[in-house]
Amino acid sequence: MEKTMGPAGVSAPGIRILGTGSAAPAQIVSNDDLTRIVDTNDEWIRSRTGICERRIATVETTRSLARAAARAALASSAIDPARISLLLCATVTPDQASPSLACFLQRDLGLREQMLAFDLNAACSGFIYALICAQRLLDPEGIALVVGSETLSRRTDFTDRNTCVLFGDGAGAAVLEPAPVPFFWSATACGDDDALSIREHIRMDGQAVFRFATKALAARIREVTEKAGRAVAEIDLFVCHQANRRIITHAARQLAVPLERFFMNLATYGNTSAASVPLALDEAVTGGRLKRGQRVVLVGFGGGLTSGAVYLEY
Ligand code: ACO
Repeated sequence: MEKTMGPAGVSAPGIRILGTGSAAPAQIVSNDDLTRIVDTNDEWIRSRTGICERRIATVETTRSLARAAARAALASSAIDPARISLLLCATVTPDQASPSLACFLQRDLGLREQMLAFDLNAACSGFIYALICAQRLLDPEGIALVVGSETLSRRTDFTDRNTCVLFGDGAGAAVLEPAPVPFFWSATACGDDDALSIREHIRMDGQAVFRFATKALAARIREVTEKAGRAVAEIDLFVCHQANRRIITHAARQLAVPLERFFMNLATYGNTSAASVPLALDEAVTGGRLKRGQRVVLVGFGGGLTSGAVYLEY
């Protein structure tokens, strides 16, 4: 299930994160709220996943969440939106197949038309794949806006306790420029719809995904840090896909890294798929956990099955 693909993922120039932003629906749904829908309980959900509550869209859409996160990222970057030349949106829950979420954002944000704007589906690894694409597609003078946005609740079967307790809605975004800074990446893809699929609803073999995720997380982190010529112990912060506290704890133990170096906000958002890494990244920045000059590894894993990691110096 876990296969490594080339190319090597050593890239120059790298990309610098100029600003980040995030957004989440107003409605908070607690574990106790879910006990009124399915046969579950707060203790089971917390102890098996670390999730306490999640945000569920009511009036919000994948597009409105993406727009809010993108606006926040543009504001924090202090970049003139007219300079954006590449717009990538990672999502498995676009509001519609076409026009793409990226095209809608181009219009909503009043961005210029001379640009490349498209959606990308790599499930929960989507934001990582999008960062890698941005680094490879950006012109030397270009600026990229990369967004992860999801309303997974629209694909959640609220009669299935195996899945409905895990997922939530949200969005995150980052504004990037090419820069002579280190950037390394590693990614995998392996077709497997037995472990996880999204057709009308999300269906998942939790234990198969758990086994894949723990291996992929540690492997991708080892690969990118090695490419960067760093020891895992030299990384200041790991921002991983926020699926399950136990998956992250397992990886921290395998890598012999203190758990405190792994940023976590899954307790309040649950698993927001492609939105999870940029949402966590934004909270790490705004909460002062990630500071300029620090070494950070961002990691995603999920449906596909896919996984990916990037090494950056923030
Ligand atoms: N409340 C109470 N009991 C539950 C619930 C629930 N919400 N869900 C399942 N159970 C029961 C099961 O029915 C089972 O009962 P049984 O023993 O009587 O049959 C028991 O709990 C144990 O079920 P398991 O599936 O073995 O539980 P496990 O310890 O594996 O935890 C979990 C399940 C949390 C899903 C775990 O396997 C996991 O985290 N997997 C990874 C999932 C993941 O990360 N997915 C996201 C990545 S991909 C993406 O993001 C799209």
